[in-house]
Amino acid sequence: MPATAEPAVHTRGLTKRYGDVVAVDQLDLDVAAGSVFGLIGPNGAGKTTTFAMLASLLAPSSGEVRVLGIDPRKDPYALRPRLGYVPDVLGLYDNTRVDEYLRFFASAYDLPRKQWAAEIGRVLELAELTDRRRSMVNTLSRGMKQRLSLGRALLHDPDLLILDEPASGLDPRARVQLRQLLDRLRTQGKTIVISSHILAELEDLCDEVAILQRGRLLADGPPRQILEQLGGNRVIRVRLQGGGTRTLTVSGEEHQRDLLKRLVEEGLPVVEFTHVEAGLEALFLRLTADPDDEPAGGDTGVDPDPDVDLDLDLDLDKAAAGTEFSPSDNEGARP
Ligand SMILES: Nc1ncnc2c1ncn2[C@@H]1O[C@H](COP(=O)(O)OP(=O)(O)OP(=O)(O)O)[C@@H](O)[C@H]1O
Ligand SMILES: [Mg+2]
Repeated sequence: MPATAEPAVHTRGLTKRYGDVVAVDQLDLDVAAGSVFGLIGPNGAGKTTTFAMLASLLAPSSGEVRVLGIDPRKDPYALRPRLGYVPDVLGLYDNTRVDEYLRFFASAYDLPRKQWAAEIGRVLELAELTDRRRSMVNTLSRGMKQRLSLGRALLHDPDLLILDEPASGLDPRARVQLRQLLDRLRTQGKTIVISSHILAELEDLCDEVAILQRGRLLADGPPRQILEQLGGNRVIRVRLQGGGTRTLTVSGEEHQRDLLKRLVEEGLPVVEFTHVEAGLEALFLRLTADPDDEPAGGDTGVDPDPDVDLDLDLDLDKAAAGTEFSPSDNEGARP
């Protein structure tokens, strides 16, 4: 289906409460038709709860939700034929063969019987499972099961795919395959909403991402834009000859230039001076850091409260006096 101006997903104030727990809290989301949208959040953030509400499987406590222009509460049976939902528990049946499993769902989706062979052939091809069509489902590897579950969700050629952590438990090669598959589906004009903890993948795959914590939206937009919004902080890796490597945070290009100038003026034997891309991973840790915990920047190389001059004076003095170029509290993780 061609992309239309109407968002594929639109929520305003979407809320789900379980007793005292607010699993999803006043969530506003807009997913453009034909785009790939990532929902990112730590365990318990509310991703699965959000997806279940979008997929018409769970009634919201309050708020507005429209999926493909349909209110899932009012008209679930209009929505479901246009939706492919892959839950985090894959929903496979062990005691069936792959082709039997797909036939069962072709029937459940009410596909005309004479189309079954062609549609099942198509999704087997897409999921690269054609040669396993007669295997028992429980003999498939984790990656194959993920692909079968995705294939099942594609049987009725839906416009919107909702994939709850489809990459979890996959090895790097299987992740790449999944990405290629999602890229193919995107070029077919499908809207894809995907959740994950694996931020590095979503960063490249998604047109937009939303970062969720404890049910609340912390930030949303194109991954690049979110990174920029969070201050143009840059993480610089400096290595001195015969010394250690450390990371420093500067607040922009100008500071980066000053830092390099001062290192050179001080006569320090700089052998490496690199701008390290902090990426969504670091951003995510920063945004979702519990205020009571240690600053997330300590793990990520992003100093949450950068004060480059103070740090620099300290380290440069030590280095100039011949002491070792010592790590300080903003010594970061290697990228
Ligand atoms: N059926 C339920 N009854 C009570 N609380 C629930 C229920 N389902 C979810 N919750 C709570 O809602 C919150 C959000 O859970 P949810 O499963 O949506 O998070 P998630 O982002 O999908 O987490 P994960 O990354 O672990 O899959 C959690 O605090 C969870 O304990
Ligand atoms: Mg979940």
